[in-house]
Amino acid sequence: MVDPRVSIIDERMRDIRKVIAVSSGKGGVGKSLIASILGLTLAKKGYKVGLFDLDFTSPSTHIILGIEGVQPKEDKGIIPPKVHGLEYMSIVYYSRDQATPLRGADVSNALIELLSITKWGKLDFLVLDMPPGIGDATLDLIRLIKKAEFLIVTTPSQLAFETVKKLASLLNGLRVPIVGVVENMKMNQSETIRQQTQKLGLTYLSGIPYDPNIEKTIGKTNRLLDTRFAKKVEQIVPSL
Ligand SMILES: Nc1ncnc2c1ncn2[C@@H]1O[C@H](COP(=O)(O)OP(=O)(O)OP(=O)(O)O)[C@@H](O)[C@H]1O
Ligand SMILES: [Mg+2]
Repeated sequence: MVDPRVSIIDERMRDIRKVIAVSSGKGGVGKSLIASILGLTLAKKGYKVGLFDLDFTSPSTHIILGIEGVQPKEDKGIIPPKVHGLEYMSIVYYSRDQATPLRGADVSNALIELLSITKWGKLDFLVLDMPPGIGDATLDLIRLIKKAEFLIVTTPSQLAFETVKKLASLLNGLRVPIVGVVENMKMNQSETIRQQTQKLGLTYLSGIPYDPNIEKTIGKTNRLLDTRFAKKVEQIVPSL
């Protein structure tokens, strides 16, 4: 049976100009930090921006952005609250600090439910913080949000870049647009990842250095925007 919620999702996404899915083949490469700072940066530039934390089992953008004590409004759907200039949506509104141990089908169901009830209105950008890997969430997202474009995050490690190749090949096969690749946690000036990215025919968007001070800025948006990390994230904007 066709899930009636799926056709509602198209309708909900109609007035969003661009959907950017911040994704990676490997975990812990900096997706949540990049998605959060990209959202803040775009909002600061005057764009209308939404940020949706799609990592249902371990959401973390609310911690990065220091979001506490807000709840969405309900009006024939869910209206995300505006926090730090972002229309912000996350499963934490419903799970609070409890774990959400969801199995595959439940993750899909939660994703369909949240996508079909959330009313974003008119946005220039909707940034999605994806869970790691090429699993159900990624496949569901491709199926459910037809206008999603992928921004792929890697580290300088060949182990991480191998998964970029796999993700890029999956996306190319499904004709899903790839905005480009961000190399995070750079420890030196090596050009290897830039060259390998270009060899795949993809745009190298930015190289973000490892920043031992970033931890102190977590939860404080003004300080986050003041880091070298944020300056490097800003370089991505013209390619969006
Ligand atoms: N450039 C950087 N310099 C220093 N620390 C960083 C940098 N980028 C990310 N980190 C740290 O690395 C950790 C992982 O980052 P983050 O949670 O954003 O990755 P992720 O890809 O979203 O992880 P997951 O796959 O679990 O969702 C965090 O503690 C974050 O603060
Ligand atoms: Mg994350």
